[in-house]
Amino acid sequence: SKSHLHHFRVWRGDDEKGEIVDYPVEVNEGEVVLDIIHRLQATEANDLAVRWNCKAGKCGSCSAEINGRPSLLCMTRMNTFAEDEPVTVTPLRTFPVIRDLVTDVSFNYTKAREIPSFTPPEGLEPGEYRMQQVDVERSQEFRKCIECYLCQNTCHVVRDHEENKEAFAGPRYLMRMAELDMHPLDAHPNRAVEAQEEHGLGFCNITKCCTEVCPEHIKITDNALIPMKERAVDKKYDPLVWLGSKIFKR
Ligand code: SF4
Ligand code: F3S
Ligand code: FES
Repeated sequence: SKSHLHHFRVWRGDDEKGEIVDYPVEVNEGEVVLDIIHRLQATEANDLAVRWNCKAGKCGSCSAEINGRPSLLCMTRMNTFAEDEPVTVTPLRTFPVIRDLVTDVSFNYTKAREIPSFTPPEGLEPGEYRMQQVDVERSQEFRKCIECYLCQNTCHVVRDHEENKEAFAGPRYLMRMAELDMHPLDAHPNRAVEAQEEHGLGFCNITKCCTEVCPEHIKITDNALIPMKERAVDKKYDPLVWLGSKIFKR
């Protein structure tokens, strides 16, 4: 039908305490879950906290869990649920809750800062960078990342294991290391082994849950993590391969 009352259940509270609150709410044709959250703010739950910006799947702000599935609120259409199927919206589970649906995602900023940035070869000025189209294309996919952190939230290595957070950069930042490792002009030595030994690549047992939730459909596991694992092993156990890779980069 064009409009109906839907059973919504939304987590209300902070990091100390909270509960799931039931709301009957109007749903119209063509709406997404974020529309319904906004309707709740405008009606029964004026103080409901939610983070969003673009409503177009591009800013990565509206990440949450819908019926337990990590998703973007703005890209989840209401017509994917039956009219009598309750829709439960909860905050990302891996990060501390600030209030209601808003989590503190600073774990990700910390991890981003820990990765050595792009390191151009000595003596090459920015205007002199030249790359082959094929090398540009190889990492194009990874640059589609909108930093929604759904992959970081989903990976089982940290999802229920606070103790692993210190040692594990998470799929998004391991992918960033893989992107730089593939960059023909990057002179930072041995990124793959560094990812393995210092950023927790070894924790990843390629379950691909990260890939499944990525709204940009980036093949995180197949195209970034697995190839980097292979290069880490090659380089570590074969000093000639490692030396060769350094020489070819110059
Ligand atoms: Fe989100 Fe995909 Fe980027 Fe992970 S890799 S932060 S799931 S866009
Ligand atoms: Fe985690 Fe993705 Fe690896 S979910 S275990 S980083 S394949
Ligand atoms: Fe920007 Fe959902 S509001 S991705």
